[in-house]
Amino acid sequence: MKALITGANRGIGLAFCAQLVQRGDEVIAVCRERSVALDELGNQSGSNLRIIEGIDVTSDQQVGELADALGSDKIDLLINNAGIMASVTLENLDIASVQKQFEINAVAPLRVTHALLAHLSDHAKVAIVTSRMGSIDDNDSGGSYGYRMSKAAANMVGRSLSVDLKDRGISVALLHPGWVRTEMTGGNGLIDASESAQGLLEIMDRLNLDQTGLFWHTNGEILPW
Ligand SMILES: NC(=O)c1ccc[n+]([C@@H]2O[C@H](COP(=O)([O-])OP(=O)(O)OC[C@H]3O[C@@H](n4cnc5c(N)ncnc54)[C@H](OP(=O)(O)O)[C@@H]3O)[C@@H](O)[C@H]2O)c1
Repeated sequence: MKALITGANRGIGLAFCAQLVQRGDEVIAVCRERSVALDELGNQSGSNLRIIEGIDVTSDQQVGELADALGSDKIDLLINNAGIMASVTLENLDIASVQKQFEINAVAPLRVTHALLAHLSDHAKVAIVTSRMGSIDDNDSGGSYGYRMSKAAANMVGRSLSVDLKDRGISVALLHPGWVRTEMTGGNGLIDASESAQGLLEIMDRLNLDQTGLFWHTNGEILPW
């Protein structure tokens, strides 16, 4: 199986790469800038990891270069993982931050998936790592304008992709990784990145067309929109 992961240099993206490499899958790790940890993963014996760096997911040109760099490669699992979280409150409204989070968290997964459509194998699986903070039903604490809006929109991207790609046999999942100890959370959280990635990969392994377009918690539960 060949997998492509964005935001692969650290956090949950790096954990996805590590687990896929460990089980013998081919991994294309996409990032803006490689990290020591990602390089070390690539240097492990038996590792089948290719790093493609210099790819900002907000750039049409760089995402186009990613598609070109794949040549005739076919991807069986695409994980749109790259994302940012910034605090935006009603008291400190920062519209530029809202727009930036929207661009990275919601627009970029559509850009990347669209650019790689010709590289998706028959029966490929596509994931977008969104967040429970994008759940409208679950929002009883307010705030976090840019993050919540962008992740809700990311969920809608995935739901539309699930409809549009069904005829190609491609299934889509929206993934909530849990509250995970990464740079994004300042090291706070309930689980580490490897536990999160393991749960999410189990969901992707089981995913089929009957379940396409759903919003999953890493613990296997279906989340409300
Ligand atoms: N941690 C949590 O509790 C949690 C909860 C819910 C959802 N999530 C989601 O899980 C995903 C991974 O988060 P994480 O916790 O692993 O965060 P992280 O450690 O901060 O990693 C974020 C990753 O996204 C990449 N990225 C950010 N902006 C990018 C851009 N414009 N182009 C390309 N790559 C970009 C970063 O690359 P650079 O190193 O180049 O910045 C990094 O690889 C995100 O989508 C996040 O929203 C996380």
